[in-house]
Amino acid sequence: MNRELAMVIIPIFRLVSILLALNGVPLGFLGRASVKLETSLHRQNLRWYSDFLKVVFKGFLAWLPSINRYGKALELNQSEDMTEFPREPIEEYVKQTLGDDEIGAHTYDHIERVLTLALDMAGEMRVNIRVLGASALLHDIGRPFEKQVEKSHSVLSGEMSVEILRNLGYYDSEIDSVIQAIRTHRFSEGLEPVNVEGEILSDADKLDAMGAIGVFRAIAQASVDNRGIEGFLQHAHEKLLRLRDLMYTEIGQQMAQERHKVLEEFVNQLEKEMGLVS
Ligand SMILES: [Fe+2]
Ligand SMILES: [Fe+2]
Repeated sequence: MNRELAMVIIPIFRLVSILLALNGVPLGFLGRASVKLETSLHRQNLRWYSDFLKVVFKGFLAWLPSINRYGKALELNQSEDMTEFPREPIEEYVKQTLGDDEIGAHTYDHIERVLTLALDMAGEMRVNIRVLGASALLHDIGRPFEKQVEKSHSVLSGEMSVEILRNLGYYDSEIDSVIQAIRTHRFSEGLEPVNVEGEILSDADKLDAMGAIGVFRAIAQASVDNRGIEGFLQHAHEKLLRLRDLMYTEIGQQMAQERHKVLEEFVNQLEKEMGLVS
């Protein structure tokens, strides 16, 4: 075969093979044809060109996962318009990672409630549901491991979210948004959210620490920590009763009013019965 022609055909064959493979088309015949052409180049003492092509295509292959990811994200983007998210596989990952060991205030049902609250709050707001849904489900995933690795779960949960979101076809920019939303959700760190998904996640997480559920969770945690009624009251004053004023969204502020009232009445009554106030 003409040497110049082979130098043009081989890269085209390789590229077409890769693109076909991405779409699930068998490409054995193209690969074999490409090898034959390369052998022919070898015979013509053009080994350097053959080696050069190998290096280029190896680099391209290494880059493939991101192309594939981009393709998947595009598909999702076009078909779902950012109003849906892959809930089931993320839920499965969270359940498997958290296991059944979580007790006190941080059981799996907290995650599900935060998700429901966040999606309800998103309503008509301009929100990327893929980012919000993933952030809500994954926000506490690092909690059981934070002592072990000496890292806040607001950082660890973000780090533990990257791989699964990549595998589900999330854009890198969406993954960054999830990491940022998770990073700012913690009351104790007092970081300001940098995106609307982070504001909603922060509000939803705090709402689940208020109202009747908040009371139940705080008592469950005080019991696990063996801190009794005093421990509960201290936690209520230091954190729970301050949450109403830390809402970012309008809907969060509205929802916080009633929950705050329930919490406040319970604390007042408890202090009365304990003889702490008259
Ligand atoms: Fe958290
Ligand atoms: Fe949480």
